[in-house]
This record gives sequence, C-alpha cells and structure tokens, in this order.
Amino acid sequence: MKKLGVNVDHVATIRNARGGFHPDPYSAALSATRFGADSITIHLREDRRHINDTDVKKICESKKIIVNLEMAANLNMLKIALRNKPNYVCIVPEKRKEITTEGGLNIIKNKKKLRIILRYLSNVKIRTSLFINPSIRDIKLSKDLNTDCVEIHTGKISDLIKSKKIYVHELRKIKKCARYAKKLGLEVHAGHGMDYKTTKILNNIKDIKEFNIGHFIIGESFFYGIKNVIRKFKRILKK
Ligand code: PXP
Repeated sequence: MKKLGVNVDHVATIRNARGGFHPDPYSAALSATRFGADSITIHLREDRRHINDTDVKKICESKKIIVNLEMAANLNMLKIALRNKPNYVCIVPEKRKEITTEGGLNIIKNKKKLRIILRYLSNVKIRTSLFINPSIRDIKLSKDLNTDCVEIHTGKISDLIKSKKIYVHELRKIKKCARYAKKLGLEVHAGHGMDYKTTKILNNIKDIKEFNIGHFIIGESFFYGIKNVIRKFKRILKK
C-alpha cells in the first residue's frame, strides 16, 4: 500500500488570517497522524505565509509525528532544517509571487547548491527528496545528485482530470518516469493538486510509493472532518 503524507500548511493559512493560535497546525498534525497519515508535510516558505518557525520547531520536536519539511534550496533553510531535524526534507522551487509551488525544480540551474544541501542533510541521516517535473532528464540529474527520493509534480495531470480533459499522455509520462526512477534506485513520490479522483487514477502506478496531499484534505475536512477524509484516502490507497 502506498503511503499518505498529509500537508497541514493550510491549517496555518486559516490561523494566520486572524493571527493568534487557532487552528493550530501542530494539533492538526497530531490528529492526522492519529487517523492514519504516514507522515506530515510542512512547507516553511521564505515569506512565512502559512507555516512559521515556531510551527516547525513544535512539529519537529514531537516524537509522534514523522515530519517531511519542504524548503527552498538555500543555506538559510538548510540551517533551519539542520537545527530542527525533520525526518525527511523535500527541496522545492519557490517564487515569492506564486500562489502555490507551480512546477518542479530547475535542477540544471541549481545543481551545485542542491548537491551541497543534499550532502549536508544526508550526513545527519535526513531522508532527502527533490520535487521535479515528470521528466526523464530530471530523474537522471536527481540520481546524479544522490537524493534518496524524487517527488513528481502532479499539478498538470490533476488540472487535466479536474477539467475533464484528456490526461492519458500525462499519465503515461508520469508512469514512465516513476518506472525509470525506481529502476535507478530512487524512491518515487508524487503530489500537488490531488483529490480523491486524481488519487484513484495515480494509485494505479505501482512504482509510486508515497503521495503528499494538502489543500484538498484540509478543505474537505471542513465538511467531513479530518478523520473521515484521511480514512477515505487510505481506503483508496488500499485498492
Ligand atoms: N508536494 C509538494 C512538494 C508540495 O510543494 C505541495 C504543496 O504545494 C504538495 C505536495 C501538496 O499540494 P496540494 O496542497 O496541492 O495537495
């Protein structure tokens, strides 16, 4: 069965709309873990628009939570990761003005920096991942950089599925990339823009080991509660 990582960033988005402490992403992370999330993803953005440094500290300190910290490839973020020691780090591209992470990393442009950051993280036994577009070239480059995992950006296929457009080409591309990455010894993850339907479709790709899902889970939880939403995802992943 594939693993489910639950991203709690948007609990912080709601909290930050009013300031103060409620709703608390740490409590959401504990609940999600209790109801079956295999890990909790938090993205510490440079502009701190959702998760902040105190959230990172509190969530990483909990022995009950397996933490996947998403961060941009820079030395300041590396310092924060080394200080807080999450279980996993996923390096993502970051543009200040984007609403969400719009695509995968530009590995060629950032190769040198990524190599250094990955080496530091591996030295302290943090599992590393690179968020990439579904591209064979980027998988080869990722392998060359010695990352443990790659996370394939599923934004495009999710948009195609949601807008009822033809998605088979994109699905084929993701499948081919997942197979190739696994063959090279990389663990394959996928995420971005996923909901129940996208998950049902992508769950058929056997080489993907983990999905990371955020916005839909938090939004759907308003109506059905986080327990029911996570359990429904876990039922989909069991098939
Ligand atoms: N995976 C990565 C690497 C991400 O950066 C994000 C958030 O942008 C997600 C998964 C989750 O995306 P979403 O919130 O659209 O489910």
